Amino acid sequence: MNFDPLLLDAQQSYRLMVGSITPRPIAWISTLSESGVLNLAPYSFFTVASCNPPVLSITQVNPRDRTAKDTLTNLRATQECVVNIVNEDLADIMNASCGDYPPDVSEFLALDIESASSLLVKPDGVKAANVRFECKLREVLEISSLPMGGHMMLVDVVNIYVNESVLVDGQIAPNLLITIGKLGGDWYSNTQERFEMQRPVVNSFLK
Ligand SMILES: Cc1cc2nc3c(=O)[nH]c(=O)nc-3n(C[C@H](O)[C@H](O)[C@H](O)COP(=O)(O)O)c2cc1C
Repeated sequence: MNFDPLLLDAQQSYRLMVGSITPRPIAWISTLSESGVLNLAPYSFFTVASCNPPVLSITQVNPRDRTAKDTLTNLRATQECVVNIVNEDLADIMNASCGDYPPDVSEFLALDIESASSLLVKPDGVKAANVRFECKLREVLEISSLPMGGHMMLVDVVNIYVNESVLVDGQIAPNLLITIGKLGGDWYSNTQERFEMQRPVVNSFLK
């Protein structure tokens, strides 16, 4: 079956994309509002945009009733964020933090989430997150201002905190950092089940 995007409504396109582009890692983003409220929200339209320099990309799916969610508003106003990586044990509290809290309510206070001060940016991170990327806003790309259109936030990584408990010989061990991924609907996966594959060395084959 083929689907013509021009004939789909935004909700249908959304469902086809989130149901197939899986599992998506979750950026649990803390930001400070202009008046100093520490906000926290999960975003799964998230990936690496560049390693040299290190840049992360997170996309806001525009809400129907306003132009920006608190994260984008705060990033534009105060320019900094912490991208907290969601260990499996944080799944429930991460999910609770996506509730539609008003801008003057901190999810940290509302949900009793312990914060940790950052080294190089003003917003605190989530203390229990084993990896935290401290970032400064590089650019916001407006793909579309329509409801369910996207604003892509590109952020420069200025410090990476990694809890020593997930490090082996200075590298993050996949069996120690168990993260969760977002699937379609309300489904999630985790990284408990893994398999390894060596990449082919094509050059030597051609000789
Ligand atoms: C696991 C998960 C992933 C989400 N991913 C996104 C996303 O990629 N983009 C988005 O706009 N909203 C996403 N949401 C919804 C936002 O978290 C939600 O709209 C939240 O209220 C935004 O908070 P804020 O206004 O404090 O930024 C996600 C929610 C959950 C639970």
